[in-house]
Amino acid sequence: MQSGFANRMHIGLIMDGNGRWATARGLPRVRGHQAGVKAIRPVVEAAAEAGVGTLTLYAFSSDNWRRPAAEVSGLMALLGRYLREEIATLARSGVRLGFIGRRDRLPAGLAARIAEAERETAGAERLHLRIAFDYSARDAILAAALQAAQAAQAGPGLSREAFSRLVTGDGAPDVDLLIRTGGEQRLSDFLLWECAYAELLFLDRMWPDFGPADLTQALARFARRERRFGEVPEAAVAA
Ligand code: IPE
Ligand code: IPE
Ligand code: MG
Repeated sequence: MQSGFANRMHIGLIMDGNGRWATARGLPRVRGHQAGVKAIRPVVEAAAEAGVGTLTLYAFSSDNWRRPAAEVSGLMALLGRYLREEIATLARSGVRLGFIGRRDRLPAGLAARIAEAERETAGAERLHLRIAFDYSARDAILAAALQAAQAAQAGPGLSREAFSRLVTGDGAPDVDLLIRTGGEQRLSDFLLWECAYAELLFLDRMWPDFGPADLTQALARFARRERRFGEVPEAAVAA
């Protein structure tokens, strides 16, 4: 469960552009993914510093299985390395790590390492870092619907809040700010339910070049947005 994270900000981050970053430098795509992994730590630290409660990183979509086998296995290996190298640091800096997405198609060792990482950081309360891996928002929504039907919770008795818990799996709050790097302006099956009222920010910068200053700037832009949730703005009511 999310407990203390639930009433703080949730940022969703689509880390896109690794391949183009590498190609532009005459490097193989996997080198872009390596550079992309390096970019994660300072951004996570900056998010925690800024008081963000939840940060969900899109690392591997269920559709990414359709990429060449060598790229896919490179990405699997990188996640394994990330977990080996980062868990101690994350635990020390108060980051609770959680994964969303399927685990049954991952190499067995990787699934075990994920479970271990979640156990080792379970008590942390500064930032909830969620990694979406073999993740599809539509599959998550479908799985929640099947679960609700099986538990006979469906029908008029099922509240949005209860269904949200089934969709998120861990009670994560709705996304407040969705950032996508790499210049594309689409969601690519990421957190579709949770982004109902998210502010969307599409940045041209490729993910390996994204740093803490970009996060700070994104937060400043978010602060200037007027969120309405369907209501009439206050100034208009007074007028
Ligand atoms: C995002 O970068 C990382 C993953 C999808 C795993 P891409 O690999 O999609 O990079 P581009 O979009 O091809 O540049
Ligand atoms: C979305 O990026 C997935 C991740 C960043 C992990 P893609 O590069 O796979 O998305 P499309 O194919 O451009 O929509
Ligand atoms: Mg891409």
